[in-house]
Amino acid sequence: MTARVAILISGSGSNMVALVDSMAGDHPARPVVVVANRPDAAGLDKAAARGVPTEVVDHRPFRGDRAAFEAALQARLDDYAPDILCLAGFMRVLTGDFVSRWRGRMLNIHPSLLPKYRGLDTHARALAEGEAEAGCTVHEVTPELDQGPILGQARVPVRPGDTPERLAARVQAQEHVLYPMVLRRVAAGDRRPVHLP
Ligand code: GAR
Repeated sequence: MTARVAILISGSGSNMVALVDSMAGDHPARPVVVVANRPDAAGLDKAAARGVPTEVVDHRPFRGDRAAFEAALQARLDDYAPDILCLAGFMRVLTGDFVSRWRGRMLNIHPSLLPKYRGLDTHARALAEGEAEAGCTVHEVTPELDQGPILGQARVPVRPGDTPERLAARVQAQEHVLYPMVLRRVAAGDRRPVHLP
């Protein structure tokens, strides 16, 4: 059976593009919708250009009422009956209720080698700590922020003179390899962690 995948974004959507483009041929999943919490998310046009339906559930009118925002998000998702939810640069913290509903079926990509550097500004923090390597992690989403079971990690070297931006670009290139690889495995029922390189 082909798994139906919904992808949640907030911004440029480069990981979403990598995921959508990977779901072709004998891939066990297909993208059914891309949802953004911002109407100006640049990824929306990229999804539409690929023939994937797009939706916007703007968080701002809910004025911090996370439960109401998530009810609207869930209702929109229900229209597409997804099996798997991929967070791809989706910059809203989700409540335990929403996460529990998707337990085992929601993935996230985070720009650090978890458990190091949960939260924001991961690359600046890794550089400030003098790390020799950085990377990214795909994990199951659980109610504890950035702490769910790890499904894959990719490592990149930190280079002399790196800035957060240069490091982010090097990590992102690996995100675009890692996330599709993990999604393919998860859609096929394989949750053994992937390690790159
Ligand atoms: C990605 O680098 C992803 O790792 C990060 O946001 C970026 C989104 O880029 N996610 C987080 O920081 C989650 N806490 P994209 O929109 O081009 O995929």
